[in-house]
Amino acid sequence: MPAVFSKFAGLAIFVWALALPVAQADQQISITTTTYSSTWEGWGTSLAWWAKAYGDRDDLADIVFTLDSTYWEPGGATLPGLGMNIVRYNAGACSWNTINGSVTMSASANIPATKQIEGYWLDGLSTDPSSSSWNWTVDAKQRAMMLKAQDRGANIFELFSNAPMWWQLNNHNPSGADNGGSNLPSSQYKNHAIYLATIAKYAQDNWGITFDSIEPFNEPSSTWWKSTGTQEGCYIDANAQKAIIPILHDQIKSRGLDKTTIAASDENAFQEAANVGRMNTHGYSGSSGPRDQLQQLARGIGQKVWDSEYGDNDGTGDTMVKNIMLDLRLLKPDAWVQWQVLDGSDWGLIAADISARTLQNATTKYYNLAQFTRHIRPGMKLLETNSSNAVSAIDESSHTLVIVAANWDDNTTFSFDLSSFSKVPVDGTKIRSWVTDGTGDRLYASVNGITFNGKSVSTSLEDGAVQTFEIDGVYL
Ligand SMILES: *[C@@H]1O[C@H](CO)[C@@H](O)[C@H](O)[C@H]1NC(C)=O
Ligand SMILES: *[C@@H]1O[C@H](CO)[C@@H](O)[C@H](O)[C@H]1NC(C)=O
Ligand SMILES: *[C@@H]1O[C@H](CO)[C@@H](O)[C@H](O)[C@H]1NC(C)=O
Ligand SMILES: *[C@@H]1O[C@H](CO)[C@@H](O)[C@H](O)[C@H]1NC(C)=O
Ligand SMILES: *[C@@H]1O[C@H](CO)[C@@H](O)[C@H](O)[C@H]1NC(C)=O
Repeated sequence: MPAVFSKFAGLAIFVWALALPVAQADQQISITTTTYSSTWEGWGTSLAWWAKAYGDRDDLADIVFTLDSTYWEPGGATLPGLGMNIVRYNAGACSWNTINGSVTMSASANIPATKQIEGYWLDGLSTDPSSSSWNWTVDAKQRAMMLKAQDRGANIFELFSNAPMWWQLNNHNPSGADNGGSNLPSSQYKNHAIYLATIAKYAQDNWGITFDSIEPFNEPSSTWWKSTGTQEGCYIDANAQKAIIPILHDQIKSRGLDKTTIAASDENAFQEAANVGRMNTHGYSGSSGPRDQLQQLARGIGQKVWDSEYGDNDGTGDTMVKNIMLDLRLLKPDAWVQWQVLDGSDWGLIAADISARTLQNATTKYYNLAQFTRHIRPGMKLLETNSSNAVSAIDESSHTLVIVAANWDDNTTFSFDLSSFSKVPVDGTKIRSWVTDGTGDRLYASVNGITFNGKSVSTSLEDGAVQTFEIDGVYL
């Protein structure tokens, strides 16, 4: 999560405004049989702040981690579950104990309590997780939501760190150094690694959670992590990252955590490919950024890629939909992870002021995301299309093809051509479809009456509409 954001929103609006209105334009879109390299791992969210506040709510767990319809009382609406299966658990950096009689955490005056995540390792005096140096009962709500997610089918877990434990840091402040520079002395690299590996081991032995990956740094090259900051963060330069990754690798392996890999930021991953199992990138650069280059670099060294944090403050969902489509078409990630499900100022999928403890309705962005997450499911393969307005995926065992299309122009008839597939349904076959329109009148509403004809599906989309299609009987 960055402190700087939304530099792209104005540009996007300007570009779209230049498009000339056309009464009923047509778009021919070819769905190709070219699959992206690997199978889709899924959709997810980081827990951290929203789960610290609301991690004990079963309704939220159902809404985020199942495909069921769940009544969301604060918003007065029944929500279609997002069916997320990936959970990022935030290892906290804060504790309020006194070390050696006088040393205590130095907290930023600007960090709200809701963003102070409690850490498990209280003082560094013992690495033994059963000693009094560790308190395994802290952070109960974030952990509760992780376990609720697992109960509901979430199957991929990442442990991530926004900052090392406060007592490892030069100024004892988990928001950053005074000037935004390095705050973790080299004498504490090993303790940072021990902290994360010990949590992963404890989670496996005591919570029944196996972390697939540990991400030890969060936007470590950003100089906005300062002691006056509003959240946990730590600048860790590339050389320090290079030094910490092998130490973490050893700490993971020495605990027998054979299924746990390290996920890390691109700048060090190339040098440290042997120790890093996946490249994580954040999606805060919006519509800009070298998505295709990153994907080529990652694939070139055989690594997976996640967009491991996405967030924006456009509650209409338009910005998110455009960026998901850019991601799926250019970055070609194996998974896509929302930063916070609940948040204020249109950042969340569900509106909430976490500090004031007020909960509201789902934004249109929520429904737009459901158009993707409920249909492009883990294990599917993404297919290339020849349009920036559509993404597609296929389930090769059930032979269901999924198309998600978005229109940013006047009413447009989209025709999706499936003639390159070896087998398609007979003419007249009914197509399942759902739409979230730009006016908010239809929020993930079923659309009836669409049929398959002449190896294609045609339908008109209004400006701002995001529509999903499921077509059975399609063979690559
Ligand atoms: C506490 O004291 C021990 C022993 O002198 C020392 O190693 C450790 O660095 C101290 N911890 C802090 C946070 O000052
Ligand atoms: C451990 O954490 C819990 C929850 O925050 C707290 O109630 C308890 O006092 C802590 N125990 C110790 C020994 O600090
Ligand atoms: C949520 O509530 C806000 C404020 O009442 C309203 O502007 C918005 O349209 C609502 N969104 C949805 C998706 O119902
Ligand atoms: C996609 O391919 C179809 C069929 O080949 C073609 O008619 C259409 O113009 C192409 N669309 C784009 C956006 O290139
Ligand atoms: C777009 O389509 C909708 C729904 O069919 C219709 O109500 C609206 O009038 C159309 N708008 C234009 C500009 O044609």
